[in-house]
Amino acid sequence: MKTNELREKYLAFFEGKGHRRVASDVLVPTWDPSVLFTPAGMNQFKDHFLGKVKLEFTRATTAQKCLRTGDIDNVGRTAYHHTFFEMLGNFSFGDYFKREAILWAWEFLTDKNWLGLDPARLSVTVYHDDDEAADIWADQVKLPTSRIIREGESENFWPASAPSLGPDGVCGPCSEIYYHPPGGAQSVEIWNLVFTQFNRVGDPPDNLRPLPSKNIDTGMGLERTAATLQGVPTNYHIDILMPIVEAAAEVCGVEYDYASDTGRRLRRITDHVRACTFAVHENVYPGPNKEKYVVKRLLRRAVLDGHQLGLREPFLCKLVDKVAEMMAPAYPELKETVKRVSGVIEKEEANFFGTIDAGLNRIERVFDDMRRENRTTVDGGAAAELYQTFGVPPELFEGLAAEHNLAFDWPGYQAAMDEHGLASGGEQHAVMGAKGPIDSIKTAVHRTEFVGYDQTECEATVVGIIAGAPPHDQLCDQMDEVGHEQAVRVILDRTPFYGESGGQVGDTGQIESKDFLFEVIDTQKDGELTVHSGHLKRGVLVGGSTVVARIDAPRRDAIRRAHSATHLLHYALRKRLGDHAQQQGSKVDADWLRFDFSHQSPVSELELASIAKDVAARVSDEAPVAWETLPLVEARKLGAMMLFGEKYPDPVRMVSMGAGPDKVFSRELCGGVHLDNTADVAEFALVSEEGVAAGTRRIVALTGPRAADYLRETEAAAEQAAERLGVPVADLADGVKRLLARQRALKKAITSGGTPAEAAPLAGDPEATLKLLDPAGMRAALAEAARALSIGHAGVVERIDGLHAEVAALEQQLAQRDQAGPLTADALLEHAQVVDGVTVVVVETPGAPANLMRQLIDAVRQKTQPCAVLLAAADGDKVVLVAGVSRDLEKRGVAAGKWIGPVASVVGGGGGGRPDMAQAGGKHPEKLPEALETARRVISEMLG
Ligand code: ALA
Repeated sequence: MKTNELREKYLAFFEGKGHRRVASDVLVPTWDPSVLFTPAGMNQFKDHFLGKVKLEFTRATTAQKCLRTGDIDNVGRTAYHHTFFEMLGNFSFGDYFKREAILWAWEFLTDKNWLGLDPARLSVTVYHDDDEAADIWADQVKLPTSRIIREGESENFWPASAPSLGPDGVCGPCSEIYYHPPGGAQSVEIWNLVFTQFNRVGDPPDNLRPLPSKNIDTGMGLERTAATLQGVPTNYHIDILMPIVEAAAEVCGVEYDYASDTGRRLRRITDHVRACTFAVHENVYPGPNKEKYVVKRLLRRAVLDGHQLGLREPFLCKLVDKVAEMMAPAYPELKETVKRVSGVIEKEEANFFGTIDAGLNRIERVFDDMRRENRTTVDGGAAAELYQTFGVPPELFEGLAAEHNLAFDWPGYQAAMDEHGLASGGEQHAVMGAKGPIDSIKTAVHRTEFVGYDQTECEATVVGIIAGAPPHDQLCDQMDEVGHEQAVRVILDRTPFYGESGGQVGDTGQIESKDFLFEVIDTQKDGELTVHSGHLKRGVLVGGSTVVARIDAPRRDAIRRAHSATHLLHYALRKRLGDHAQQQGSKVDADWLRFDFSHQSPVSELELASIAKDVAARVSDEAPVAWETLPLVEARKLGAMMLFGEKYPDPVRMVSMGAGPDKVFSRELCGGVHLDNTADVAEFALVSEEGVAAGTRRIVALTGPRAADYLRETEAAAEQAAERLGVPVADLADGVKRLLARQRALKKAITSGGTPAEAAPLAGDPEATLKLLDPAGMRAALAEAARALSIGHAGVVERIDGLHAEVAALEQQLAQRDQAGPLTADALLEHAQVVDGVTVVVVETPGAPANLMRQLIDAVRQKTQPCAVLLAAADGDKVVLVAGVSRDLEKRGVAAGKWIGPVASVVGGGGGGRPDMAQAGGKHPEKLPEALETARRVISEMLG
């Protein structure tokens, strides 16, 4: 049986038993902070088990994409381990229990119309005291008792060992079903039936409380069961994986041989590239922490295998296409992103390949040390050090350590990195959290009704008051401490306040009754509850009271402008850059928005200008904005923009812009608040564009009055800057570049003792500023000037003033120097005196910086020996002194450091250096003549 057929049969079988077929949740459930990746089918139903959501159905069945890293070291080494895999599952929320779960599992496995496995090849395990399950297997399934094994909590409880080790929350005994292949091969666990019947509270004994309703959570490994049905020796031989293994063998230029090192490497490559493809598809790119770090680690491990097979260039990226092809029957969306995904993978691979060889050398040195000291575990702290100092990737370290039979201390490595807040790779369990006050409210009221799409205030009832922050928060019936700093959260049965979600910030405002006034400073969502945080301003806040909830309407309008403009921006980006320019994240605040999207290279000034123009055009079109709630499939059919890796509700809210079927230009699935007409955006201004991660760019923009202010200020700044430079606004960047060139040339002339290469002053054309540009052109000109200066728009004028001042000072310094005559060794020697056969030069060199003085001293030393040279110059309100003597004088005990000391103290400073060259500073330029006198006297004494 083909794998795709098995997946379909499973879902169809349980649909036939009254289950709702629910789509796989995303692989990276950003909605669930307790896990990095979806670890099991039940993860998306945690709130269903806890009774936190109103149930629309009590039976569900899924094929869930999962990723676990707990067994990562076994991947490739064994026949059955994966990181990425699919879990088939059926779930009951307070509906059927053990009997049905067991009988249906048996029917699906053994019935000829379904899998038709030989019953004689199946055995089961049950929890040691679960007589109920054991009896069902024995009496109703008629399984011989010899094939019903009882085991302890580490094997037959889920989560494993939960009774003694936790975590707290719902859990239960389980029964596992094993298949024994013909020919005596090792048996495989293919299905785990969990009887979720307890809530664990605290430590044993007596910590397992029966749940009010009993649940079922099952998990069948798709790949394992497919391998069983296809009669192949490993999971990697099944129809959807073998082609990837073979493709990997081909790009690596090797033959696949199951039992060899090469075989292990190819399996690891296959698993990891599949995991990375799914993660990157969901816009989770390799990065420095959390799930992004796991993706990076997987990718690097696979690259390392390629490196050991002799590859030196990106190759994983070439397998993405094959992965998409194999997985497309269940996940057709993968096909749409092959180019982006392989691009991201290729870039990361190329980076990593670049570090491998240098890393190898450093690592070999560590191994040598370890061998000398008879150590067998690579110290995690040392590995972290090597990573931070030389960028030696830990995966490389670990891989090589394994090949030398040395262990690698991952926990130590992670601890060291965590100290720097850099990495977190550990996997967390699907913890089903203990109950806090917010959970009690969820259980009681389930959800807050949101009325804020068309109302800014409403009457409501207070259904919960929570004081303090977790874990010390508590439910209160009433609250009367006005003015204290403690955080208070209020939950209402209905509200016009938008809880932060989908990137849009939460509303602020007031909740008021005749008895009290509560000021809301932020609104968040917790599951389906809306939570208003803030402070009590007046009176006594009492649970159950009737209130008026009122949002800050002007702020909300500003948020609406920004949100609708975000959709316009998304539309314009895709139009100008292509369909790959998909949203990766966004933040929508009052007249301010930040939008991250996929794009490989910086967006040019020209492209940005046309994007801004497109947005402006849609604003002046006065396009109507409308929203409706419709089934997800219909929204998809209408071509609504769907983000990969996003979890959409069904039915879903769709926001459209434009009138009539042909004129609609934007359709997004979005729960946020919007304008009624694009005209109300009023003004739109792009503020910045930058890269935030590999393949991700970020745009910040403003709307409404903030945009208008910004645009006005920008235009004024462009005019001012142009005026300061005496150039037309259109030539602003040119002017800036010339000013910078002048500054560089002057500096160079001063440090080298030469004349500036570009001595010509900037052309000043008093008529020039009259040649004005249109506002957009002015902003573009300012932007370009800002880039040339590597600063933001706001600082351009100030920076130009600063540069002018710097250039003037440098010019003055140069003029001073030139007045004093040319600075050459010969010129200095004209001032020489001979003392006891030694040429002594003590000269003021105005305008010369210290390094030039040192060059001059060297030049004198080359011309005349023995010699002693001391040069001095005032630099503003400071003095610089440099002294040097020829080597032969050192032998006579004449050292530059000793000479310069008393001279420096005359100008109020100090310093020192080597015997042949010393430098000092001082702060009394007016005492320079006296200092030079001292210099002459001291050297005479030293020589005499
Ligand atoms: N949640 C159970 C498991 O992951 C089915 O094994």
